[in-house]
Amino acid sequence: MAATRDSVERAGRRPLVSANWKMHHDHIAALHTVRDLSLRLGPSEQGVEVSVHPPFTDLRTVQLLIEGEHLPLVLGAQHCHSADQGAFTGEVAAPMLARLGVRYVIVGHSERRQLFGMDDSQVVATVQAVRRHGMVPIVCVGETAEQRDAGTTEQRLRAQLEPVLQVLAPEAMASLVVAYEPVWAIGTGRPASHVDASDAAAFIRSLVAAAGGAEAAAGVRIQYGGSVSAANAADFVAEPDVDGLLVGGASLQAAEFAEVIRSVAACYRSAAS
Ligand code: PGA
Repeated sequence: MAATRDSVERAGRRPLVSANWKMHHDHIAALHTVRDLSLRLGPSEQGVEVSVHPPFTDLRTVQLLIEGEHLPLVLGAQHCHSADQGAFTGEVAAPMLARLGVRYVIVGHSERRQLFGMDDSQVVATVQAVRRHGMVPIVCVGETAEQRDAGTTEQRLRAQLEPVLQVLAPEAMASLVVAYEPVWAIGTGRPASHVDASDAAAFIRSLVAAAGGAEAAAGVRIQYGGSVSAANAADFVAEPDVDGLLVGGASLQAAEFAEVIRSVAACYRSAAS
């Protein structure tokens, strides 16, 4: 039987499924993929908000496509710098993304943290920059395999998220997106169990409740990310605290990503009926 969920309408949170393309697809491939994806999405998928996060060089192309053809997609970015401008060779500033119509910016992805040395204070400053320019941060948190084995997952999630919450007003927390992405599950084909994802999402929501109160906790959307596929997507979003997915590998091909979106939409629809 397909997974369903029953608390969705009560909470009123719209599911958000995000395609993190990482360093894949040039602007020509982006054009084809986005157009192909949009052709595969119909009225049944409208309840799901879908953001596409291509490399920086593709943003203008994808923006023009989404706006020009009124596609049911929103534009996202994978990262930005915390300063609005300056001598930061190779970096891109939040106002530049805002000018391109970017709505969501992934902040603190584990690859940025591990491979490019992004630390928790830079994550906080980047969240503030993204918000300053009217965009919504998707703040990534998640434990490594060692931390999980040591039983310190919650400690790690708290250490990553609390500094972010400390600089946000409760209203800002309510519109935030947090992606729970266990590092060991990213790109490995070994996703977390839906029970683990559910526990982590509930813990994240409790941190938001403690920092910003019940309304903030009811509003914040929490994604799961890490080896999501069309086969497992519905299991995650069937969990009451999981409000969407951050998808890497399975978002690169339009056909596969459309299946992910379709199964999320079906899960929400069957809960509503
Ligand atoms: P994956 O990547 O779906 O390929 O595991 C997810 C992510 O890194 O956001």
